[in-house]
Amino acid sequence: MNTFLLVVLVFSISIAAEELSRKELLSLLNVNASRSVDESRNEEQLSPDSFTDMLMDAKFIKVPEDTPILKIQRTNFLMATKIRESFDARREWPKCWSIGWIRQQSRCGSCWAVAAASMASDRMCINAPYYPMMLSSEDLLSCCGSYCGNGCSGGWPDKALNWWATNGLVTGTDYSDHQGCRPYTVPTCSWHNGVYSFPYDGTYRACPETFSVPQCYQQCQNGYFRNYTQDKYYGQPAYHVRPDVSAIQAEILEHGPVVATFTVYEDFNNFYKREPIYQHRSGGCKRPGGCGHVVKIIGWGVENQIPYWLCANSWGTQWGDGGFFRIRRGTNECGIEANVVAAMPRK
Ligand SMILES: *[C@@H]1O[C@H](CO)[C@@H](O)[C@H](O)[C@H]1NC(C)=O
Ligand SMILES: *[C@@H]1O[C@H](CO)[C@@H](O)[C@H](O)[C@H]1NC(C)=O
Repeated sequence: MNTFLLVVLVFSISIAAEELSRKELLSLLNVNASRSVDESRNEEQLSPDSFTDMLMDAKFIKVPEDTPILKIQRTNFLMATKIRESFDARREWPKCWSIGWIRQQSRCGSCWAVAAASMASDRMCINAPYYPMMLSSEDLLSCCGSYCGNGCSGGWPDKALNWWATNGLVTGTDYSDHQGCRPYTVPTCSWHNGVYSFPYDGTYRACPETFSVPQCYQQCQNGYFRNYTQDKYYGQPAYHVRPDVSAIQAEILEHGPVVATFTVYEDFNNFYKREPIYQHRSGGCKRPGGCGHVVKIIGWGVENQIPYWLCANSWGTQWGDGGFFRIRRGTNECGIEANVVAAMPRK
């Protein structure tokens, strides 16, 4: 097939994927769709309160020293020669729905577990013999304990990926979808400390005063078609991607999305109302333990001469650009290029 036809074909498949609703996508994963989800998108910003509830302690930002740095491999060099000006993993692997699936961590600093489970799902799909699926962030958040960090206060995504290697992860979707073996159980809510917060419209139930880490149940929810042990999927040990733009790009091109940890400042919350690509300009951090966050990098590009990373956040589809956002690339913005980790599924 000539290249032009191939490009047209790939393009039309990815357009089709974007047109599928969330519910239709669910029916294609190895989970069962039953409950409908809210697909409305408004452009409200997070209240300062719920914003800080979704961050994690700063001590989890830096990749621990004992995480091996990925050696530069021959294939990585080859990939580096193929780096294009822009790349979007959703278009590269259109059958792997999880890449563009925005999760909702709710008011718990579980970004480390959510991003790690999300990246693990993407890479399972990208790397044969696996297929589209959604691995459970609940399994990580509730069962990994102090090895990963400190639950809703934060954790190290590379430790979370190591836990995927040693203990495996079962399937599970978000709270609102409630599918798979262990779906997420931290409720999506909109009421806290006497004020309504994001998304303001009463879509979600009231928030409890405090969030606790869900209990580690080593069993699947009732009615799921397999047991917990049967539903486990495993990865390989995590590695730290060299803090270098082309190394990160080569890694994404070759293996799929990566997980990145960075420092969050107040101006990150609603930056997309001000400018299309985030760069830190003002504001500090008002959270006692510090302000860290973990997201998935799924591609890159350049707009108006500003190079950027394309990232998937886990604050629902109502935040940012349908849940995605862009951050300046090449300047280690808020440390995002220094703290990139990844892992491969077990062969
Ligand atoms: C999905 O639900 C159908 C019936 O509602 C059931 O037969 C099937 O086994 C379920 N599949 C999964 C993956 O849970
Ligand atoms: C899970 O199912 C497998 C196969 O049916 C069975 O061998 C195993 O004992 C089950 N495990 C549990 C914990 O029920």
